[in-house]
This record gives sequence, structure tokens and C-alpha cells, in this order.
Amino acid sequence: MDKSEIMQLLNVRGEQQQVLFSQARSVRFDHHGNKAIIRGVIEITNSCQMNCLYCPMRRDNPMDRYLMTSDQILEAAASIRGSGIGVVFLQGGEIPATTQLAGRVIPELKKYFHGNVEIILCLGNKTRSDFAFLKNQGAHGYILKHETCDPQLFMTLRQTTLADRLACMKDLMDLGYHVGTGNIIGLPGQSPSSIAEDILLAVEYGTHMVSCAPFICAPDTPLASQPSGDIDLTLNTMALMRILNPMALIPAVSALEKIRPGGQVDGFNAGANVITVNFTPAREKLKYEIYGKNRFSVSLKHAQLTLEAAGLHI
Ligand code: 5AD
Ligand code: SF4
Repeated sequence: MDKSEIMQLLNVRGEQQQVLFSQARSVRFDHHGNKAIIRGVIEITNSCQMNCLYCPMRRDNPMDRYLMTSDQILEAAASIRGSGIGVVFLQGGEIPATTQLAGRVIPELKKYFHGNVEIILCLGNKTRSDFAFLKNQGAHGYILKHETCDPQLFMTLRQTTLADRLACMKDLMDLGYHVGTGNIIGLPGQSPSSIAEDILLAVEYGTHMVSCAPFICAPDTPLASQPSGDIDLTLNTMALMRILNPMALIPAVSALEKIRPGGQVDGFNAGANVITVNFTPAREKLKYEIYGKNRFSVSLKHAQLTLEAAGLHI
């Protein structure tokens, strides 16, 4: 598929869109059957040195910042294990302190799960030696979305370079991580052509996981008054990611549900095969304002009902 075909398919709606979704489901079925994966996320810190224009946890926003302790993380992981989930996902803002914290807790987590656990991290850009250290400590995967492959837009929104981000992704691939990339759809100033390029970038890098989320216009951010991303454009992006990266793990993210109830079922119908349940302790969860105070927090029950509605099982 070339860029112009991708751009054309990004725009399909109605019957043609249903054809696109059914192709995506058929590619998923051929490579994964009807099996989906449930992950358990623990949001280990809301501190962040970055100042992304779309995020309420940006450095300039005064808020009550937390960094969980190893013991708190292990306690949350007990609920993940108790729910029969074998993937622990540690997510947090971009701060150097998470390297030592995650590095300490990963071996403990592995011991606690008797080795039957996959550890995925999403902790922002780090140095190659930090990534190597975390891999040595036992991390399997790392999600570092490229967000947008438009270098100017990336710089405007994140005040760092796309090149640095891609260099981190390359380091992670070199070090043997399962790497996740992905984009945000509907960012102010984003061109349709750059979304097609986001899709081609994921193919080019051959990443193992691809996460697509609609832009959420979060309160207390410089982009608060902008319109949120279009869900159909997001779903079409996901379907194309599935068709072009058949083996990839593609989550139906909570932002889809935030845009409209049932949005995550729609994500599965467009080819997703992963859902993430939130296990952050209640007090910290309230402070993890990634999409603002009323984000959608996925419970185990919601994940199970969503998979059932999509005809998938774990
Ligand atoms: N809208 C959509 N996605 C967002 N993220 C952060 N803020 C927003 C927003 N307002 C996503 C980024 C980041 C991931 C952890 O959350 O893609 O990589
Ligand atoms: Fe920090 Fe991530 Fe928010 Fe950017 S999106 S400000 S890196 S927490």
C-alpha cells in the first residue's frame, strides 16, 4: 500500500469503512485467532520534566506530584496477579528517578509472579544506558510513541526533537526490547498526509506494538479549547496499522472510550487486540490527570465486557 492509498482509506466512512474494519479483523484472526491480551497498568508517577502542550501533567502545571514506592507498586501488582493478568505495565511521566525505581522493582515483580510475567515500561525518553540497565533488570517491552512524524509539529507540541525520540526507539530496538510506537490522531495542526506517514513509520520500524489514540483536548493545557480528535479517523488509522503490521499488539485505548461510550469495542472491531486495565491505587489514580480529572479508567469488568462484545477471549 502506498501513501496515496493509505490517505484514501483514512477517509472512508459508511459501507467502505465497514469493509476496511472487516479486512482488519480478518488479518487479526489469521495471525492471532480470536485471542486478545489484558494488561494491568500501574501509573507510578505523575511527575514530569516535559511540557507537552496536550497534557495536564506538563511541568508548568502546579499539581500534587507523587512517586510510588517499590512496596506500593508491589501491592498494586498483587491485584494484577490476583486478577489472573500476566502483563504488568509501568507507566509514568518522564523523570530520571523512574530508572532506579523501575530497576529496583522489576526483579521483585518477577519473583512475585514466579517468573510468569511480562513487564512493559512507558516512562519516556531515557539514555541508552538507562534502557540497557532496565532491560538487564528484566523489562521485556517499552512503549515510546512517536506521537507525530511531523518534525515541526512534534517540536511545537513537545519542545524536543522528533529525531531524539526516534533515536530512543532505535536504541530500544537494538537492545532487544519489544518496542511500541504510535501516534495521536487529530492534533491541532496535524495534516492527513502526516497521519499516513505515521502508519508507514510503524511499518518501517517494524515495532511490535502500535498505539493510536484520538487527541483529547484536556483541561488546563494550552490546547484545552481545541476540538478533540475524530474517532472515525482514529479507527481507520488503527485498521490500517493492523493490516500493515499483522503481528502487532494494538491496544483499544481508554481515550476511545473517553470520546464515546463503546469506543473501545469499536477499537477492537477495527483490529485491536489488547486492552489495559488500570490498577493504580485510588489516591494516585486521581492525581494521574493524563486527560484531565474525568478520564475513563478501565476496570477488569469493563475490559471483560468489552472483549465479550467484540467476540474475543483471553
Ligand atoms: N490526547 C491523546 N493522547 C495523549 N497522550 C498524552 N496526552 C494526550 C492527549 N491529550 C498520550 C501520548 C503519550 C501517552 C502516554 O499518552 O501519546 O505517549
Ligand atoms: Fe509528560 Fe507524558 Fe504528559 Fe508529555 S504526555 S507532559 S511526557 S506525562
